[in-house]
Amino acid sequence: MGTEFDLILKKYKQGKREDLIPMLQEIQEQLGYLSEEAIVNVGSYLGLSTTKIYGLATFYDRFRFIPSGRIHISVCNGTSCYINGSQSVINKISEEINVQPGLTTRDGNFSCEIVSCMGGCHNGPVINVNGEYHTFVKASQLPELIKKLMYIIEND
Ligand code: FES
Repeated sequence: MGTEFDLILKKYKQGKREDLIPMLQEIQEQLGYLSEEAIVNVGSYLGLSTTKIYGLATFYDRFRFIPSGRIHISVCNGTSCYINGSQSVINKISEEINVQPGLTTRDGNFSCEIVSCMGGCHNGPVINVNGEYHTFVKASQLPELIKKLMYIIEND
């Protein structure tokens, strides 16, 4: 792993297991996801098994274990968004980009994940596309949105 990754590790005390989550967060911010190599390195630095780290990290829905696509879509499925139809939004996105939530398309163009709440509960369903929020999203709007995003990727 490169120097940047070593620099993150060195900010934390070796063997201090309470730092696991902040370390993982920082690595994810830098790499965009938690690679297997990152997990192994963190494990040996803190003296934790990789199984234990995966177990803890998967408990938090904010961690990703595969690289995001060029376009990353987070869909809120918190209570309020769920009541307002987020499930149909999730289904439609999966259908349009042809990949299940939590995965990245083979061409690396799109990835999608389900998150629990984005703090915009009165404006749901809410989705976030590469950092940009879309509110009151309807499944019927998604084919057009995905088409626009495809156009952006192709002309990038
Ligand atoms: S439940 Fe979706 S933004 Fe809060």
